[in-house]
Amino acid sequence: MSSPAPLVITIDGPAASGKSSIAREVARALGFVYVNTGNMYRGMTWAVLQAGIDPADAEAVAAFAPQAGLSCPVAEGRTQLHWQGRALTDEELNSDPVNRAVSHIARVEAVRTALVDAQRGLAALGGLVMEGRDIGSVVFPDSPYKFYIDASEAVRAARRSAQGHADQVAERDRLDSTRKTSPLVIPEGARVIDNSTITLQEAVDQVLAALRAAGLVAA
Ligand code: CDP
Ligand code: CDP
Repeated sequence: MSSPAPLVITIDGPAASGKSSIAREVARALGFVYVNTGNMYRGMTWAVLQAGIDPADAEAVAAFAPQAGLSCPVAEGRTQLHWQGRALTDEELNSDPVNRAVSHIARVEAVRTALVDAQRGLAALGGLVMEGRDIGSVVFPDSPYKFYIDASEAVRAARRSAQGHADQVAERDRLDSTRKTSPLVIPEGARVIDNSTITLQEAVDQVLAALRAAGLVAA
């Protein structure tokens, strides 16, 4: 018997566009598991830094990636990020050194191979809302439920700084959009939502309305 097709709502977009906030609310409304793939790249970056590896040394990062010691158990409706058996905190995952290095780590092909395999494996859990940069384009390109969340650069920088993070969102966007492997693109078939001037609730409602229109009965 073949396994059922994955049921994954994909949400992609640039840094601080609102992907995580929207994905978390949509997952809650549907009873799906929320997966923040950015945290997986951030966890890999944390592990690289802890191992004393230079994030710019792509060869050393590639050799380290397959045995980095990361896992993603589910708790409270979302995947957590564990490293060497303990949960990494939001402070660690969003720390300045991680913000600075993560888009360099994410360019390394062996890193992407390891994390994309793990992301596809999560579909065995049931319905997912998965957000990142390449979810609709590379990880689950056959999903009928794809979204791309955008917002102006000024709005994104302001929202990130309101969250209390010093984060070079423009520089990360440049690196993420220009890399050779799985660059940030609007996935084919994705519905684009401009989240610059609407409220978070309005953005969530637009996603849920589109899912209803697409026949996802649970919505
Ligand atoms: O929250 P924010 O949008 O600022 O970033 P994130 O989603 O936590 O992702 C951090 C970084 O991980 C991104 O800037 C990308 O370099 C990388 N990433 C990726 O390459 N592919 C993904 N599917 C998710 C994140
Ligand atoms: O995951 P990503 O980096 O794309 O964005 P986020 O971590 O969800 O951060 C977006 C921030 O902007 C959060 O503090 C949201 O509450 C806020 N926000 C939003 O996402 N959408 C709006 N329409 C208004 C505010």
